[in-house]
Amino acid sequence: MAYSDKVIDHYENPRNAGAFANEDDDIGTGMVGAPACGDVMRLQIKVNPSTGLIEDAKFKTYGCGSAIASSSLVTEWVKGKTLEQALDIKNTAIAEELALPPVKIHCSILAEDAIKAAVADYRLRHTDRLEHAACQPAQAAA
Ligand code: FES
Repeated sequence: MAYSDKVIDHYENPRNAGAFANEDDDIGTGMVGAPACGDVMRLQIKVNPSTGLIEDAKFKTYGCGSAIASSSLVTEWVKGKTLEQALDIKNTAIAEELALPPVKIHCSILAEDAIKAAVADYRLRHTDRLEHAACQPAQAAA
């Protein structure tokens, strides 16, 4: 199969490959797998607590060139966005940008799912923390 120039570019020069050193509360991590092929994608977002904007992103993908390119691309796209805007990134836009053929559409779906999972993880961490903070005065009083 012939990859598009953009896929090859992201594959050969992946943007934001790797992982954040610390898993603190400002980071959300999404790990998703593609049942069709067994490929796995791990996407992390780092959110600025004062602005609510995603200020950085990282990925690690064990998969095909299209999956690596899709995850590399979305780490660029999510930067500077709110969580809601990041959730609006659709796999169709990823597939269009990278000119993915139909057989590789599931690779772009993996990237969309990874964003959703990373946002969900970030929100879960914050909900947990807020709930924990809310219950602390009661514990202190007991
Ligand atoms: Fe499965 Fe690309 S072939 S993610």
